[in-house]
Amino acid sequence: MSTTFPDGFLWGGATAANQIEGAYNEGGKGLSIQDVMPRGILTPPTEAATEDNLKLEAIDFYHRYAEDIALFAEMGFKVFRFSIAWSRIFPRGDEETPNEEGLAFYDRVLDELERHGIEPLVTISHYETPLHLARAYNGWKSRELIGFYERYCRALFERYGQRVKYWLTFNEINSVLHQPFMSGGIPNQKEELSEKDLYQAIHHELVASARATRLAHEISPGAKVGCMLIAMPAYPLTPDPADVVAAMHFDHDNYAFGDIHCRGEYPGYLLRFFREHGIELDITDQDREDLTHTVDFVSFSYYMSICQTADPAKDIKGPGNVLGGVPNPHLQASEWGWQIDPQGLRVVLNDYWERWQKPLFIVENGIGAVDELVQVDGTKTVLDDYRISYLNDHLVQAREAVADGVQLLGYTTWGCIDLVSASTAQMSKRYGFIYVDRNDDGSGTLERYRKKSFDWYRQVIATNGAALQ
Ligand code: BG6
Repeated sequence: MSTTFPDGFLWGGATAANQIEGAYNEGGKGLSIQDVMPRGILTPPTEAATEDNLKLEAIDFYHRYAEDIALFAEMGFKVFRFSIAWSRIFPRGDEETPNEEGLAFYDRVLDELERHGIEPLVTISHYETPLHLARAYNGWKSRELIGFYERYCRALFERYGQRVKYWLTFNEINSVLHQPFMSGGIPNQKEELSEKDLYQAIHHELVASARATRLAHEISPGAKVGCMLIAMPAYPLTPDPADVVAAMHFDHDNYAFGDIHCRGEYPGYLLRFFREHGIELDITDQDREDLTHTVDFVSFSYYMSICQTADPAKDIKGPGNVLGGVPNPHLQASEWGWQIDPQGLRVVLNDYWERWQKPLFIVENGIGAVDELVQVDGTKTVLDDYRISYLNDHLVQAREAVADGVQLLGYTTWGCIDLVSASTAQMSKRYGFIYVDRNDDGSGTLERYRKKSFDWYRQVIATNGAALQ
């Protein structure tokens, strides 16, 4: 077994604008859908931004980015994944010209990363569609979003194309099927939407993603553009072949997004689904041509696996990252009920590599936990051995996959600094190596403290993985 990761392996951490930046109405920023989601995905959005939303201030990265990036550099980060808030660049989303103040903010972030030799990995759209596009156009249900997104991408590639090599088009694009508002800016409950509506919105995002890929390659030929998927392997709950087929169907719902991004056309199983459900999408010849612009790499989040069954009596879903599924009797779960399965990561890596033959990038992985700030030798810290153990075990499996022959570009832990949860909008669901003094009621100094895992990750990076147990 190899003891290290490939040379140049990109170690780092990941965040999203709406979960860290705050300053929701500074610098000319418009409202995004997140500004009206004070409870995450748990309750429907509010009419306007309410103060009862931790994301409005988040962890104030907007003003503290230099301090935070210095801490990432202290851990030895090679890469930092962050997203650009679309509504900082185009406050409503449908303007002709970008907002200079918004562009200048990310220039400053990139300057700081450059100073520390940290490679940026930029998510173009991470659950933060401008609110105006949701309200006035019904989000991605509208074909017009393709043009607005392309204009936004052009502004980013022209401004940052010389400084940013790695781009991700849409965070967890397969989540649109499950969370149409958060993921697709579609202001309806899922139940109110027809399957045709949902797949038409997905089609628009897929075309937009392909057009962005082509544009990035035109504007900056060295650019590497990736899709970003929720990876959640589905195991059959029992050896009953009907359960195996149920797991296959679940996988197809997710594979479809990678298949289209990597192969440039709709897979047969999805065309069959459309036929059998009377779904006729509006797909133009130009769309078909656009889709042939395939991605350079495949990135994904991995937190957990689930089971699938064909038996309705046993098909009782447990909690989980956006998709959810039947809990696995062999696995333990986090405090939020997400089941912990390090080996599933090796399975996903092998599976994706064999299926798509594109380099892979793990851009989210981690455990949300309640942390307790304690004093050790006069310094405030968190003794987060549970986090070290979760990350260690997943990285060991990633290393196994590399030994299996998988081409893996890098690994960014989710929420490398504590941030506001996407699903619950809580601060107390912490993922970071860096503790941020902020509580669910909004109180706290926003001071940063290094957790025990901070030094652990520093050593893992310094040894290129040899320090893993
Ligand atoms: C992913 C998202 O689904 O999971 C992140 O890309 C999110 O935005 C992460 O924060 C963890 O989920 P949660 O709900 O614990 O914040």
